[in-house]
Amino acid sequence: MNESMSDLIQLNRLDSGVVELVINRPEALNALNIAVLLGLKTALEKLASDQTVRVIVLRGAGEKAFAAGADIREMQTMGRSDAAQFSRLGHSVCLLLESMPKVTVAAVQGFALGGGTELALACDFILASEKAQFGLPEVGLGVIPGFGGTIRLARAVGLTRAKELVFSGERFGSAEAAQLGLIRKVLPQDGFFDEVRKQAAKIARNSLPAVWAAKGLMNEFEESSGVYPKVDAEIHRFSSLFGTPDQKEGMGAFSEKRAAKFVGL
Ligand code: HXC
Repeated sequence: MNESMSDLIQLNRLDSGVVELVINRPEALNALNIAVLLGLKTALEKLASDQTVRVIVLRGAGEKAFAAGADIREMQTMGRSDAAQFSRLGHSVCLLLESMPKVTVAAVQGFALGGGTELALACDFILASEKAQFGLPEVGLGVIPGFGGTIRLARAVGLTRAKELVFSGERFGSAEAAQLGLIRKVLPQDGFFDEVRKQAAKIARNSLPAVWAAKGLMNEFEESSGVYPKVDAEIHRFSSLFGTPDQKEGMGAFSEKRAAKFVGL
């Protein structure tokens, strides 16, 4: 059954307790603006207490993108306090995905950049097609990841590899994502979502109390050493870059479809 939470967020309820949560903004490559993040938050809060739901598959509409990041045009004019609020909103969505009593799976085909990679990293695990493209390109916009990406990427692939990826902003495909340990294996593009549904349904058939016990236990470690204690520090560092010449240049250059020329400190 398909439900529209809003124009931007859709729910496909499949048999067996699997729900697809779809970011529906394909004309902007599912870029995450405030309305999309609020829609995701509302939907996840509802699904968290829905006893019929066992597994949530997060995906993007269209073939080109999971999500090409936070909406750069919307961020371009933000001041520090708006940027801090925006980062906090994204964090709240990511923390829900990570900690809610449902299994959350990111199904990535096409671009998952910046906030897109960060949302995927917040899910319990990522399934990716051979056409997936990951990356945290924020430093090329004069800012840093602001939805927990630096912390979760380091957790997934190790600190030094995460540093190289964050400082270079380089994109990487699913073969490299598998080598890095971000995903377990690369799935064929043909029939990708059918395979995702099969894998999600397989999890949904397992004992729910056992699965929640495992998720809760595995997350307990996170509460002391993972993203939770660092949220405020990241929000502070992310938002403090707003209003700087490099943030204005980086985001202005994207909107004007040209390369950024950074001036430095
Ligand atoms: C706003 C975006 C967007 C974004 C794409 N679009 N990504 N709009 N924010 N992040 C829009 C484009 O402007 C364009 O709109 C339309 O989507 C199609 O994109 P194209 O660029 O024409 O497509 P293509 O040439 O195929 O290039 C795809 C792309 C490129 C490589 C993914 O769009 C791109 O580099 N996007 C930005 C990726 C990025 O830097 N993400 C990180 C954002 S910062 P028009 O109107 O021109 O058709 C971030 C911070 C998170 O995520 C933390 C915040 C707290």
